Amino acid sequence: MSKRVCIIGAGPSGLPAIKNISHAGIKVVAYDYNHDVGGNWIYNENESHSSVFETTHIISSKTLSQYEDFPFKPEVSDYPSHEELKNYFQSYARHFNLYDFIQFNTLVKSCVRLPSNDWEVTTIKNEKEHVEIFTDLVVCNGHHWEPKYPSYPGNFTGEFLHSHQYKKAAPFANKKVLVIGGGNSACDVAVETSRVTAKTYLSWRRGYRIIPKFLMGKPTDVFATKMTFLPIYLRNLLAGFIAHINNGSNKIYGLPEPDHKFGATHPTINSELLYKIRHGKIKPKPEIDRFEGKTIYFKDSSYEEFDSVIACTGFELAHPFFDKNFLNYTEGPVPLYLKMFHAEYDNLFFIGMFQPLGCIWPGAEQQSILATLALKGLWERPSNMKALCEREVTNPHMKQINTSRHRITVDFHKFLKDLQKQIKKVKKI
Ligand SMILES: Cc1cc2nc3c(=O)[nH]c(=O)nc-3n(C[C@H](O)[C@H](O)[C@H](O)COP(=O)(O)OP(=O)(O)OC[C@H]3O[C@@H](n4cnc5c(N)ncnc54)[C@H](O)[C@@H]3O)c2cc1C
Ligand SMILES: NC(=O)c1ccc[n+]([C@@H]2O[C@H](COP(=O)([O-])OP(=O)(O)OC[C@H]3O[C@@H](n4cnc5c(N)ncnc54)[C@H](OP(=O)(O)O)[C@@H]3O)[C@@H](O)[C@H]2O)c1
Repeated sequence: MSKRVCIIGAGPSGLPAIKNISHAGIKVVAYDYNHDVGGNWIYNENESHSSVFETTHIISSKTLSQYEDFPFKPEVSDYPSHEELKNYFQSYARHFNLYDFIQFNTLVKSCVRLPSNDWEVTTIKNEKEHVEIFTDLVVCNGHHWEPKYPSYPGNFTGEFLHSHQYKKAAPFANKKVLVIGGGNSACDVAVETSRVTAKTYLSWRRGYRIIPKFLMGKPTDVFATKMTFLPIYLRNLLAGFIAHINNGSNKIYGLPEPDHKFGATHPTINSELLYKIRHGKIKPKPEIDRFEGKTIYFKDSSYEEFDSVIACTGFELAHPFFDKNFLNYTEGPVPLYLKMFHAEYDNLFFIGMFQPLGCIWPGAEQQSILATLALKGLWERPSNMKALCEREVTNPHMKQINTSRHRITVDFHKFLKDLQKQIKKVKKI
């Protein structure tokens, strides 16, 4: 059977996969359970796949958040909004004629690897199941949609939601709200709710450095690009120093000091959080100890009553279409070479399943080019694939704290270079 490739997802990672593989003359069928392309960037007031909210603007700047062959229009803002991004991804799909390859409103329910090594893919559309056979499977289902919930002793009897369900600040007007977490969702949600709440509280289980969106008038990631000639540890040292010069000590804000080096957690980028704290709109709290009705006790023995809790505690890696005994990255390590090649299954590819200190889709684009070369038989799988996969787990680009969100981190610039090195090998042939 000639190659027939199934692609799951038409978000920012799926789109370059559809483009590169189909443009190489390979048969492609892509499925997406949404009604259009754009994935996470299709904002919806109701709960959906997307985890963005009314006021989300990205934290990676437009200069470093574009596909190499499709630049943003000059009028797009430095940090595009979800609407600007949705338009960008939809223009990309139109420009490269990708819509014809995508079956929308179609959920991939299961993917089974047959004894022949082909993939049996079962989809559901309009409540009807359909089965198709493919030679190869490309997984681009995203990793910021399945909420990861915290658990504490006791019960909270007020309103409890996850950042995935948070859509706008208005419903929290005049309420007392506790936001949990120190990542980008938590800090964005705390800032946004603090505009309307009676008071917003922010609970961190450790200290973080808050990085501003602009340094010396430039988007911070553009500013940081000037340091890419330095080794990663030196870059981090310098970045930590600059953050300190900009903010001073966390103590000034009533926040705990970081318990780790710069780069050892995914960066939290926010230009309003510290300002809101200093204006008394957001009050920092330590880690939660327990719930009792609407009262929440904290580790420092303080307590407060709350109307609402918004847990911004991150997302699980989830592939519900695989049998858990076949593949399960939710709990454990992710041993994939270049975060995309499986040690045993040479007809299985993951695109976009990595967490850069920067934007995801330029890396997803390079992964897509490499996957296309592999599908064309132009890129040769290394003979030591198993060892390379294991090395991804034991030798990450940077040492980070051991919490589940840090299992798939890559350095944006090094990751692109590593992928391009493999692509260039083929181009030399
Ligand atoms: C609030 C927020 C802000 C963010 N900001 C940034 C940022 O500044 N920069 C950055 O790089 N990243 C950011 N991210 C990360 C985000 O994951 C990426 O921007 C991007 O959306 C990843 O693209 P993706 O295609 O891998 O996944 P998604 O965008 O999640 O797309 C996955 C697609 O797969 C489809 N799908 C999933 N499962 C199935 C199935 N079983 N069957 C059929 N279709 C399926 C979905 O409908 C969706 O269209 C942010 C995330 C959040 C939540
Ligand atoms: N504006 C934007 O562009 C924007 C907005 C939101 C999100 N994002 C992106 O979306 C992705 C997800 O971000 P996120 O902030 O939702 O999740 P995240 O990066 O996984 O952060 C989760 C936070 O919750 C903490 N946490 C996890 N479990 C906890 C528990 N049981 N109790 C207390 N705290 C707990 C984590 O602590 P540890 O540090 O200990 O792990 C971390 O501070 C990231 O890539 C992020 O950059 C971007």
